[in-house]
Amino acid sequence: MTTPAKSDKDRVVIFDTTLRDGEQCPGATMTHEEKLEVAELLDTMGVDIIEAGFPIASEGDFAAVHEIAKRSKNAVICGLSRAAPKDIDRCAEAIKPAKRNRIHTFLSTSPVHMKYKLQKEPHEVYEMVIAQVTRARSHTDNVEWSAEDGTRTEFDFLCRCVEAAIKAGATTINIPDTVGYATPSEFGDLIAGINAHVPSIDQAVISVHGHNDLGLAVANFLEAVKNGARQLECTINGIGERAGNASLEELVMALHVRRSYFNPFLGRPAESSEPLTGVRTEEITKTSRLVSNLTGMAVQPNKAIVGANAFAHESGIHQDGVLKNRLTYEIIDARTVGLADNRISLGKLSGRSAFRARLEDLGYSLERDDLDDAFARFKELADRKREISDRDLEAIVSEQVQQQSEARFLLRGVQVSCGTGLRPTATVTLETSDGAELTEAAIGTGPVDAVCQALNRLARVP
Ligand code: KIV
Ligand code: ZN
Repeated sequence: MTTPAKSDKDRVVIFDTTLRDGEQCPGATMTHEEKLEVAELLDTMGVDIIEAGFPIASEGDFAAVHEIAKRSKNAVICGLSRAAPKDIDRCAEAIKPAKRNRIHTFLSTSPVHMKYKLQKEPHEVYEMVIAQVTRARSHTDNVEWSAEDGTRTEFDFLCRCVEAAIKAGATTINIPDTVGYATPSEFGDLIAGINAHVPSIDQAVISVHGHNDLGLAVANFLEAVKNGARQLECTINGIGERAGNASLEELVMALHVRRSYFNPFLGRPAESSEPLTGVRTEEITKTSRLVSNLTGMAVQPNKAIVGANAFAHESGIHQDGVLKNRLTYEIIDARTVGLADNRISLGKLSGRSAFRARLEDLGYSLERDDLDDAFARFKELADRKREISDRDLEAIVSEQVQQQSEARFLLRGVQVSCGTGLRPTATVTLETSDGAELTEAAIGTGPVDAVCQALNRLARVP
């Protein structure tokens, strides 16, 4: 794939927030090792900026951002922070080892957020914007400022805050549709309005961030691009808070497939074949599978680009058309997103190498023993089922993948005492990976709670 154009103004910058906003979605928590694995793949995939976490949120988040920053190769590593100086300083510390880093600092600007969440007057918020950006700039020259709940912010106030943030040194201005409320034409008009009314806007890149509460996030972003937005904040498989974020694969593929439509909005000739983003589209399927496997969040089968049915033709009429000429019903060649074209259909006659190759396409790379085990289970299933689907393969290997992370503790003993007039008490003994035994006792509201309290105490032991 050719290198995209140099300036951030004449191409679309892809800012991935799978590890921050994506991880905010219920049940999507990843371990430290898993976050490193996702970050590595995102970097390989050509994402421009990886928002690796929210360092002040926990020691775990700090450690993940710090390690990702150390290991990053090409991508800018970004951390999120609120407006408080200690948040910003902690974020700066976490991203410090990266070759290229960014602080993303945000503050709410809508009337409802200022009144109820921040309990601040607009003039106080305005001063905080200047202070937060100034502090972030004292750590790095790459600072993004976000107007949280931007789409419900009063327009003149939003423009004043954006101008103040740029004057204080923000290099990217992000306009979030935090509650997924905007419609495409409104969102496009908002971006056009900011472009037209903020005097210093040409000194910053305009970014958009949006949630999918009305299913409009991707459409909103594409309209924003047409009106001057040049950074898109998105997640793999669209995971994220509530209904999720705009999905990376849908945005990248829309800009890829409909390049000639979008080119003129970026000042390029319609027929230019230069990619609009730097993402290696062939890595999309693998990355989607990895995120789905690690978070346990299944991708709906009819999800655009990465759903199991996205490239499947079921009806006889469609199959017939595709066999005559694939352009009849296909707008994307499956190979563009990293799917094998003439997929080898896996069945009982398939060998180990076809099995391993298919697993690798799906984002699994198993050690020899795990592969042997998975292959035996595959053969067993193939005896009963004519064709083995990707879903079957995922089920076959998921056990091995989950077992790959090394156990940190072994449960050695649990003792609980409870009864009439007794306070439920539990004593728990764990063995650490270096063989030491740790014991803690705790009182709880019931026997199970007492065990959990004892485990919590043990987890706090350094
Ligand atoms: O949705 C939102 O507004 C956010 C901000 C922190 C950018 O996630
Ligand atoms: Zn968000």
